[in-house]
Amino acid sequence: LQLTVRPEEAKPISDKLIGIFFEDINYGADGGLYAELVQNRDFEYSPKDNAHQGFDSGYAWSVWENGQSSAVKVSTENPLHENNPHYVVLQAKPGMALRNSGFDGITLKKGEKYDFSVFSRMPEGSKGGKVIVRLLDNEGKEVAKSSVRVAAGKWKKQSAVLTAQTDVDAAVLSVEPEVTGELHLDMVSLFPQETFKGRKNGLRADLAQTLADLHPRFVRFPGGCVAHGNGIDNIYRWKNSVGPLEARKPMGNLWGYHQTLGLGYFEYFQFCEDIGAEPLPVLAAGVPCQNSACIPGKPLSGGQQGGIPMEEMDAYVQDILDLIEYANGDPKKNKWAKMRAEAGHPKPFNLKYIGIGNEDLITPIFEERFEMIFKAVKEKYPEITVIGTVGPFYEGTDYEAGWKFATRLNVPMVDEHYYNTPGWFINNQDYYDRYDRTKPKVYLGEYAAHLPGRPNNIETALAEALYLTSVERNGDIVSMTSYAPLLAKEGHTQWNPDLIYFNNREVKPTVGYYTQQLYGQNSGDTYLPADRKIDNPRQDVQKRIGTSVVRDSKTGDWIVKLVNLLPVPVKTKVEGLTQTENGKAVLQVLSGKPTDKNARPVKKDVSVTELSQYEMPAYSLSVIRIKSD
Ligand code: AHR
Repeated sequence: LQLTVRPEEAKPISDKLIGIFFEDINYGADGGLYAELVQNRDFEYSPKDNAHQGFDSGYAWSVWENGQSSAVKVSTENPLHENNPHYVVLQAKPGMALRNSGFDGITLKKGEKYDFSVFSRMPEGSKGGKVIVRLLDNEGKEVAKSSVRVAAGKWKKQSAVLTAQTDVDAAVLSVEPEVTGELHLDMVSLFPQETFKGRKNGLRADLAQTLADLHPRFVRFPGGCVAHGNGIDNIYRWKNSVGPLEARKPMGNLWGYHQTLGLGYFEYFQFCEDIGAEPLPVLAAGVPCQNSACIPGKPLSGGQQGGIPMEEMDAYVQDILDLIEYANGDPKKNKWAKMRAEAGHPKPFNLKYIGIGNEDLITPIFEERFEMIFKAVKEKYPEITVIGTVGPFYEGTDYEAGWKFATRLNVPMVDEHYYNTPGWFINNQDYYDRYDRTKPKVYLGEYAAHLPGRPNNIETALAEALYLTSVERNGDIVSMTSYAPLLAKEGHTQWNPDLIYFNNREVKPTVGYYTQQLYGQNSGDTYLPADRKIDNPRQDVQKRIGTSVVRDSKTGDWIVKLVNLLPVPVKTKVEGLTQTENGKAVLQVLSGKPTDKNARPVKKDVSVTELSQYEMPAYSLSVIRIKSD
């Protein structure tokens, strides 16, 4: 391969090409990124979330007395908050314990401190007293202990700190009253103090750091299908996800399990800020998944079909406008902005993008509602970029209806999704070369190379890397991309492949993760065209070599990406980057056999002169960063 770069023809490209798409699928949120360790802390699990999994308000809880366990008793009379109607009722006495088994157990690290909290009350006139809180290992041995006081009267929050004496894979939380009488408990919570950036109600530090290490320029949340939901009753309403935890309105999600919404819009915005990424919330376009109920065989509560009734749409549109105020407004002038300030963030979050809709069927029901929302946002907040959707991807459809609609409305950007074979990604590198530059810009919001059995391996990772060279080339029309899905908990994986697998103790990035990371950490804002000369004229050979050269204006560095999907090494000569002849460069190479799932990038310092005699290994992605200093 001879690559002759033409720096004089450089063109600006998006500096937000690589982002992440977080959705609560595969237990990505509760039991995953959200660091809460108690499962069903609010007793709000319900058969509506998924009757097949035995979900009810006692899920993950049990009462122990004299070595025997029994189901918990739950009441809804005079609850802590109307959005959180269930609480547990104990006929408390010494010797009894209320236990929670966590998400596949509660994993503890020796020496780490854990914040316990609970809302409690006892009947008027009762003396109140002490409740012991313990963490027990797999054999029932105590590994941490503290206590809280409970009192008669109104609901009151109590807290305690527990320090783990030892590592435990699957501990149990045990709440043991020393008082006698009726005791009500709700919002029983346990968080590690060590969350990402030490945030209260925060994120699991190791998982969040793994996301931050991708250096994503934006985070799309909370879905995906979770955003538009399974039937209109299941549409994700952002207002249900903010404010005090006990006042949030939990619900089942489209993937068939419970979401506490403890990881809600405030936490998403804060995470974006913590990692220097733009927030990209996606809200339903007034229609649920496929304009109806979506998972065959797994309906939730038999939600209504169609879209939000037109007479309710004004209020729904207002909800979306209120979100912009919540994120960016002045707390002195707007009640939603005030709520953000009360949550600890008086400064705006600088929201710039809003996604409306998620691969919805483009029907009159959708179009009518989308148009209402789009026009309202455009009129009141012209500075916000609305990202529309062009519908679900079916081979051959080319999203025709979606594109026609978005073009007619002059939507600034549209979200495309496609999951396809590595062969498709190899053969469609000209996909965006063909796009009309006068039409909306593209956010490739979900994509991944799928093989039979759905592994994430060198073959899929390199097909994605190859395709991303064409995305960088088209970075004038493609503004953003995000691989999907992002997270999957082992034992609870509903979709493969994912970018990062994890369990309670470990985080396991895939090979595809490293493609994303190499691009995320080495993206630019200017594309440098290049002439390619490949000795072998065969089209199938030519297509398996990908090249891209970008410049990052912040550092002044030039970055060359070379992808080789051939089974043989390829001698490579890069020319035309003359200013840097004696400069320093860093080379990172990801390579392996096509089926390799454990390949990791190898990094070394090199001299720029190597570019004239570089050899791409067989099946590899090479990223060469030429330093400006
Ligand atoms: O990424 C998983 C799902 O795929 C998303 O929720 C949805 O948008 C798409 O169908």
